[in-house]
Amino acid sequence: MENKQTLRKQIALSKKQLTPQQKLESSRRIHERLMALPEFQAAQKVLLYWSLPDEVQMAELVLACSQQKTVYLPVVQGDDLVIRAFQGVDELTAGPLSSIPEPVAGSEEVTLEQVDLVVVPGVGFDRIGGRLGRGKGFYDRLFATAKGKSPFKVGVGYDCQMVDEIPRDTHDQTMDYVIWESGEVRVNRVCALFGIRYPIVAGGMVWCSGWRLAAAVSQAGGLGLIGAGSMKPDLLREHIRQCRQATQYPFGVNVPLMSPYAGDLMQVVLEERVPIVFTSAGSPKLWTTRLHEAGIKVAHVVSSAKFAIKCQEAGVDAVVAEGFEAGGHNGKEETTTLALIPHVRSCIHIPLLAAGGIANGAGMAAAMAMGAEGVQVGTRFALTQESSANEAFKELCLSLGEGDTMLSLKKLSPTRLIRNAFYDQVAAAESRGEEAEFFRELLGRGRAKLGMFDGDLQEGELEIGQVVAQINDLPNAGQVVRQMILEYNQRIRSLFPFDFND
Ligand SMILES: Cc1cc2nc3c(=O)[nH]c(=O)nc-3n(C[C@H](O)[C@H](O)[C@H](O)COP(=O)(O)O)c2cc1C
Repeated sequence: MENKQTLRKQIALSKKQLTPQQKLESSRRIHERLMALPEFQAAQKVLLYWSLPDEVQMAELVLACSQQKTVYLPVVQGDDLVIRAFQGVDELTAGPLSSIPEPVAGSEEVTLEQVDLVVVPGVGFDRIGGRLGRGKGFYDRLFATAKGKSPFKVGVGYDCQMVDEIPRDTHDQTMDYVIWESGEVRVNRVCALFGIRYPIVAGGMVWCSGWRLAAAVSQAGGLGLIGAGSMKPDLLREHIRQCRQATQYPFGVNVPLMSPYAGDLMQVVLEERVPIVFTSAGSPKLWTTRLHEAGIKVAHVVSSAKFAIKCQEAGVDAVVAEGFEAGGHNGKEETTTLALIPHVRSCIHIPLLAAGGIANGAGMAAAMAMGAEGVQVGTRFALTQESSANEAFKELCLSLGEGDTMLSLKKLSPTRLIRNAFYDQVAAAESRGEEAEFFRELLGRGRAKLGMFDGDLQEGELEIGQVVAQINDLPNAGQVVRQMILEYNQRIRSLFPFDFND
């Protein structure tokens, strides 16, 4: 509260100190940067999401944009917002307006999906109530109407030079890019959503990802998840508490909804106030609302575009799209990460993480190039010092090559397994045409524990991803995060010479 008041005072002070001429000049500087942005240059239809309380800056923004683009403004109609073309450019060319511009009645109306770019003025002010229409839910409702790809969103902040960091409310966190007085930044929505430094998530993994691994990844700037799929509720509680002791950074819990304890595990998550939950193997509708009510951010793991759309409809904050290279349970469609990510990207507009076959910075760069905004990594973190998997399992994994894992148990829940005696039994039963019940019995309870935790490499169920063929060491999880970022940065820079001069 005190912070808010200090901030309010600082901004009021900074505003007061600017003469109208200075305000105009500062706006022009910011708008020049907006217009230099490639996304702005490529856009035809630009929505200026509502007005700034300051009419000089707002009129300047409308004027600057409408010289190059078709400008749209939102208009309140009853409880709804409609987007209508602004046609009053001629009036504006005389100079800054003395009142906030409005589209004339009856001008062209478009949907959010028809707009190429949204400029959201007032980023930074919003937190103290400066942006008009705030608190009425218009923003959320408008953006909920975009079923497909949402337009690129640029936040513009004025007079924010008084604060060290741009203050961001939840709307501001959804920006793709923010320009303010003293800087600008391309926002990574996965980092903003989870409050992390690097968009690398260590996926929840039965028998591998306890608090040690989760804490090590979060400590290194990624997001560590405790894999609750192999835990009973009390054990999960212990892991959450240990993790909290070990790191001050955000971490999360993965709850596979097919766990017989899913409901009780969620209860623990709620009681322990875990800030982030990744759900998988079930419907995103089941828990999202309840978790949101408790202020928890929710991501859900899918293996197809169809389910990614369902996630968006269920209101999850982010989707993890996992290709069939991945370790663990897989989709029936057997879609590879390379085929899956661009497809999912074209169907949803909420933050997207790619999973499956990503174990280094090159894989991460490829995933980001396809439209992912972060990665979920399993196999690479299963094979680290902090992973709780049995050492014999880890050693076996280091010796594996191409073709040593296969998608198996297809009639039950497709799972990528290492070829061993247990796998051979499954494969033989599959070729005999056995039904799901047979496999359920063969699997029994405790096969995965027997293999990955107790280290029975023949009779146990051993899960790992295809990318295991590229892994031949057991580093610390923190080293994995750092190395991945280093390599990612090198990779994206090394791509620059090859733009083929279109
Ligand atoms: C040993 C192992 C266990 C896994 N267990 C789970 C799990 O309990 N819940 C889940 O959502 N995903 C699970 N996964 C999938 C991972 O969270 C992650 O999405 C996947 O491993 C990414 O692909 P990659 O293995 O190619 O990195 C598991 C993966 C492995 C390798």
